[in-house]
Amino acid sequence: MDSLPRRRVAVLISGRGSNMASLIEAAGEPCYPAAIVLVASNRPGAGGLARAESAGIPTAVVDHAAFSDRRSFERALDRVLAEAGTELVCLAGFMRVLTPSFVERWKGRMLNIHPSLLPLFKGLGTHAQAIAAGVRVHGCTVHYVVPELDSGPIVAQAAVPVLWDDKEATLAARVLEAEHRLYPDALAAVATGRIRLDGNRAVHIPERA
Ligand code: GRF
Repeated sequence: MDSLPRRRVAVLISGRGSNMASLIEAAGEPCYPAAIVLVASNRPGAGGLARAESAGIPTAVVDHAAFSDRRSFERALDRVLAEAGTELVCLAGFMRVLTPSFVERWKGRMLNIHPSLLPLFKGLGTHAQAIAAGVRVHGCTVHYVVPELDSGPIVAQAAVPVLWDDKEATLAARVLEAEHRLYPDALAAVATGRIRLDGNRAVHIPERA
């Protein structure tokens, strides 16, 4: 890759942080175009915090329960993001709905990973939704964050087969493996500027010869 400075990325989590760990691992490669400068959680007990700390990544807890409303929670979140010099935000199992004004501030600079092939199966329980719908292909999506949940211009997707005897757990495990490959690739594409937001679409900028 080229010698552009690495983009400063904060990862927001609420839970175990396996996608966060895959981003940290990718960013450990010398030529990866982004550095994980902060992992922040809205839940003090999130398992991902310990994983980040053991990888030497600065962590912060902005406990939503300590704030009287969403806006004051988000002001505190914005403060820790600013203090870390954050350029891009990756939501990775972050279980808080963000207000339109927060999303607007980070427009084109905030990504999320969702465990389905959007626009199918929004919300929770995506693997059960896929099994119930009888689809033979399922997967995951990285998209720019917009105010509407699990929507927003698609940056990248990965598909996995749904096997006839799949249960929610077996399908979830197959999708999660795909997530761990997809998110680092998608972040790299956005961090280098190969993919960017143009109006309401993600566009691909071909490399110059
Ligand atoms: C992942 O399946 C992700 O797609 C969804 O929440 C889950 C988080 O898992 N948004 P982890 O905390 O990254 O292990």
